[in-house]
Amino acid sequence: MRILVINGPNLNMLGRRDAGIYGTITLEEINHNIRTEALAIDVEVEFFQSNHEGAIVDFLQESATRAAGIIINGGALTHYGLSMRDALVDTSLPIVEIHLSNIHAREEFRHNSVIAPIAIGQIAGLGEQGYINGLRLLLGHIQEGK
Ligand code: DQA
Repeated sequence: MRILVINGPNLNMLGRRDAGIYGTITLEEINHNIRTEALAIDVEVEFFQSNHEGAIVDFLQESATRAAGIIINGGALTHYGLSMRDALVDTSLPIVEIHLSNIHAREEFRHNSVIAPIAIGQIAGLGEQGYINGLRLLLGHIQEGK
């Protein structure tokens, strides 16, 4: 079973980006830890990061048929990226939304997510652990339909 792990704009800068909010871990390290967890639970993961909404749409269109679910941190696109949201809907795949920071405790424009209504759930504020927990939750959902 293959899960897509998608990160949106500026998440390639983790480690060099506001460490007080996002910590010092890099996206490469996060993806390494996700891959380790995926191996342990016998899931294949495919990583994609882009700073461009259209590139994320292209990736979703091309890769959804080979996947069973999606983990996504849309970065700022979370708050307004409607073509990304439409492409997510069109995959018909179960989605778990991740944020490193607690978007609900930050600026008001971060409180709304266009992904949340189409996701199984959202994990925000748990740092990189959110991706790991999200992967486990998504797998449970796919396997048991819950
Ligand atoms: C983020 C939260 C977003 O509001 C922000 O634009 C990001 C990162 C997070 O992981 O906490 O780029 O998605």
